[in-house]
Amino acid sequence: MTAQLEVSKATLVENAEFSLTSRDLAVITRIMLKEAGISLSGAKANLVYSRLAKRVRKLGLGSFSEYCAMVESDTGTQELGEMIAALTTNVTRFFREPHHFEHLREKVLPGLMAQARAGGRIRLWSSACSSGPEPYSMALTILNVMPDAYRYDVKILATDIDPNVLATGEAGIYEESALEPVPMGLRKTWFSPLNDGSGRMRANDELRGLVSFRKLNLIGSWPMRGKFQAIFCRNVVIYFDSDTQEALWSRMMPLLEENGALYIGHSERVSGPAEALLANDGITTYRRRRNGELK
Ligand SMILES: C[S@@+](CC[C@H](N)C(=O)[O-])C[C@H]1O[C@@H](n2cnc3c(N)ncnc32)[C@H](O)[C@@H]1O
Repeated sequence: MTAQLEVSKATLVENAEFSLTSRDLAVITRIMLKEAGISLSGAKANLVYSRLAKRVRKLGLGSFSEYCAMVESDTGTQELGEMIAALTTNVTRFFREPHHFEHLREKVLPGLMAQARAGGRIRLWSSACSSGPEPYSMALTILNVMPDAYRYDVKILATDIDPNVLATGEAGIYEESALEPVPMGLRKTWFSPLNDGSGRMRANDELRGLVSFRKLNLIGSWPMRGKFQAIFCRNVVIYFDSDTQEALWSRMMPLLEENGALYIGHSERVSGPAEALLANDGITTYRRRRNGELK
């Protein structure tokens, strides 16, 4: 018993400024799974330490045990959000996995844009949008085939759990180097230099107007009622355990219109009952089957 206690108190990161014990790591792992669906299993002590040490320092705390106690206290809600933001991976880029945007342009948008011109309601969802390159790449693909799309009822919902990345997306300001994957013609038409000497570029009003950024936890409740003609859910379920992944795909199905497109990340796969409702339509690309219901 004493030996066990000693083990749980021992710090997992040598010569560190703050002690991080296996018990702290277990608490953080449990919170991340419950609150964000994120599985930190494999106990990545160094990763957890490096991402959260600045929070412990900023709050003037002496150890990760104090930090865990704070996050779990009645007044810990705000810090819980900071913790989730610090432990999520936000890597993204414009036109990442370009075959998805080719599929959208060639197979999905021609029909949808005709519908939009006839007064139809067109909705696309970027469900883990990070700092915005994914939903803006969707919007740029739309503007490429229909440059006046912003005059119609065409909208992209861009959601993420992390308010910091949403603020970047909302501002629509990026380093010029980040825009390299954007074809020059689109870059020149839909972005303008910021003129503050920083060399950064800002998405123009029309481009920003197509995208609405909202905070949404994929494992929480969803306010959306209307269906989407395309859903991008890319490079996020890899952080979830298999039960959470299955449940998420099942929840998405009623929100995907018949024949609607689902795009997932290169190392991800659809699992569980949703699989039977989807037909493969290219690399990590699916279409919602007609007349399919979840059993
Ligand atoms: C690696 S980025 C992927 C961004 C983009 N989809 C792409 O493929 O480039 C993963 C994003 O998922 C978000 N995320 C993680 N867990 C989430 C959850 N439970 N609900 C909503 N977003 C979540 C993170 O904040 C992060 O911005």
